[in-house]
Amino acid sequence: MPTDDSPAPAEAVGPLIRGIGVLRELTEADGRQSPGGLSRATGLARSTVDRVAATLTRMGYLRQIGRDVALTPRLMELGNAYLGATGLPDLLGPHADRLADALDESVSIAVPDRDGIRFIHQATRRRALSLTFRIGDLLPAERTAHGQVFAADWTEEEWAHWRERRAADPQNLRFPAIPPFRQSADFLAEASAVARARGWAVDDQMIEPGLIALVVPVRDSQGRQLCGVSVVSHTSRHSARSLREAVLPTLRETVAAMEYDLRHAPPTEPVQRPADVAGSAAWTEASKQELGRHFVEALARGLTVLTAFGPGRAELPLTAVAEATGLARATARRALITLEHLGYVTAHGREFSLTPRVLDLGFAPLADQPLSRIAEPHLADLAVEAQDSASLAVLTGDDIQYTARIAVRRVMSVNITIGTRFPAFVTSLGRVLLADLPPAERAARLQRADRNPLTSHTVTDPARLAQLLEAVAQDGYALVDEEVEEGLRSIAIPVRDHTGRVVAAVNVATHAGHRSLAQCREELLPALRTAAARIENDLHTSGRYVRIATAS
Ligand code: PHB
Repeated sequence: MPTDDSPAPAEAVGPLIRGIGVLRELTEADGRQSPGGLSRATGLARSTVDRVAATLTRMGYLRQIGRDVALTPRLMELGNAYLGATGLPDLLGPHADRLADALDESVSIAVPDRDGIRFIHQATRRRALSLTFRIGDLLPAERTAHGQVFAADWTEEEWAHWRERRAADPQNLRFPAIPPFRQSADFLAEASAVARARGWAVDDQMIEPGLIALVVPVRDSQGRQLCGVSVVSHTSRHSARSLREAVLPTLRETVAAMEYDLRHAPPTEPVQRPADVAGSAAWTEASKQELGRHFVEALARGLTVLTAFGPGRAELPLTAVAEATGLARATARRALITLEHLGYVTAHGREFSLTPRVLDLGFAPLADQPLSRIAEPHLADLAVEAQDSASLAVLTGDDIQYTARIAVRRVMSVNITIGTRFPAFVTSLGRVLLADLPPAERAARLQRADRNPLTSHTVTDPARLAQLLEAVAQDGYALVDEEVEEGLRSIAIPVRDHTGRVVAAVNVATHAGHRSLAQCREELLPALRTAAARIENDLHTSGRYVRIATAS
């Protein structure tokens, strides 16, 4: 990643610079690294890395995995603050999704980020033939169709910056999202002039063989290019020319509709920053008590400043930043100066706003974590608390399929692993998933399901099962007693996405001899609720602008 080496201003907050250095290094390491590795890569003393890690862990942005530290989904709230503030994914994302459906090709939206481009939305129809970029990934301008259209607006200073970066890194080795550049043709200036004249640009396999893309810029009412929309295809389906002939008119219509919405959308209502985010006075006090000198207050406060921004809060004066975060004006001011120096904030007159570079703070590696990965640490805590195995499953057809599992003690004769299937109607996980369906669909599924009893307790009568599912829908949990296997009880509750839809279920399985049915309710249900709430919290943060895969 290109960085500026200009010296920090005198008022810059050193601990914030060092903390961000650690986050950047973890991002480059794809989300996980050992403290020793972080120390070597950042040049910081091991004790400094440890204090930074302790503070970020306290903020909920890192967790320990064995000896390593890893980024958590919670950290995505920083990138969400930028994406929410621009309003672009909320306003333009649905247009991009409809275009992808209409063309049956991938569509992406990227914004200019200095001499690079950064993805802010993806509607992926990729057929496993080529690279897929993640929201937050940074690509060099010269390798993409977006870069050609954005470079048309560059100032002389921006061209100079680009030339410098090209000279230092001609093969694009600092851009881990793409394979190295083999050619060294300097065609960007020419290509951007052509793109300006035509109003579109094409990438004919500049990233990798086979990958082609067509981009049209989206302009605001003053004609500035806010972002570019690309239709991405493959040479197995199109040549660069046939792609343009097939999709340019439709792409242009979509962009015209986007520009119309940008001009006519009502201003976004400012969303209040959630009260529970790290950084409040009470939270800071408690953190100092708990961690002592391992708590780096200036780092926590500085990062909190980024969360002052969001939907309807794109440009904020210092006073508003201080108010939203509860920080003293002088503290907020120094944090903003530091963040501006590092390129995460820009100032226009008295107003500050976030830059796309905020997405460099862990967003891309976290954006492709499926729900199973998000759930795993919380299942592990649940299994420790319950002293029994905890699992996550989704519905596939008439079955449930396990997608994550922490096994503590064997209570079943069958060995359940990730991918194991069971008939949905008979398991606690399946009943929770079926109970979220409309009653008519539940009934239809129960009718057609293969309802072979697994034990002498298995309920197979569709009318009785329909009643049980209704009770599960009412109670919010399913308790299944020896219907899957003699001697086995399990209790499950739903996991909902931010729209309230049940996307998975989590359960604990226990031996009938270890816990009575009443004990299952009294002991396991509260622990399950805590675990599901933590999974949902992470899912809602990570799923705000990213489609999180639930089936793997
Ligand atoms: C993509 O979204 O994958 C994409 C976008 C622009 C390109 C190439 C690929 O030039």
